[in-house]
Amino acid sequence: MIRIAPSILSADFARLGEDCADVLRGGADWLHVDVMDGVFVPNISIGLPVLKSLRKATDAFLDVHLMIDRPQRYVEQFCKAGADLVVFHVEAAQPQDVQTAIDTVKAQGKQVGLAIKPKTPWAVLMPYLDQLDLILVMTVEPGFGGQSFMADQMPKLAALRYALSELNSPCLLEVDGGIDPSTAPIVVQNGATVLVAGSAVFNKPDRAAAITAIRNAAE
Ligand code: DX5
Ligand code: ZN
Repeated sequence: MIRIAPSILSADFARLGEDCADVLRGGADWLHVDVMDGVFVPNISIGLPVLKSLRKATDAFLDVHLMIDRPQRYVEQFCKAGADLVVFHVEAAQPQDVQTAIDTVKAQGKQVGLAIKPKTPWAVLMPYLDQLDLILVMTVEPGFGGQSFMADQMPKLAALRYALSELNSPCLLEVDGGIDPSTAPIVVQNGATVLVAGSAVFNKPDRAAAITAIRNAAE
């Protein structure tokens, strides 16, 4: 089963509730919430207050992608603010703090994922593979929507798919960046099961058609 998770980074934040309702009516499986701190990535987006408001506005599964430095400081608050899944970057914390953050999210009863940037080798995830609900492979440099898909990340995706299958792991494999109907089949062939799409959904006048086009291309 392929899940489509529209990234609200490309939504109109002045009408966020309506934009989210629109993509959910249009067949979105999850909502992907990009949190950026201007330190880990060269951009600032949204944080806890917006997540809290979104939680009140929808029952949808909220996939929260933290692009923040030292995420162990904030993961508990993001769980409490309404995240269903908290994904943070393995590059953003020391190994012992990565473990602490994983444990903190699990203690809150939420799902946990680790994300890796394009230049990071997948082997850094090995100590955590059996603890994760999801792995996020970035297919652009994190920080901005609307960038071009990096096909050179496909060997990494395929290697992670192989490693997870060797472990018989139910861990989901998510891709984020440059996903549209032309790139969706490539990521699915290489093992992705959750597809984040920002501009390819929100920048289209008919979001339902945009989601259907990605899903049809992927399946
Ligand atoms: C980038 C974010 C993405 C972004 C994707 O740092 O993590 O979720 O919104 O945007 P598109 O789909 O336009 O590449
Ligand atoms: Zn993201």
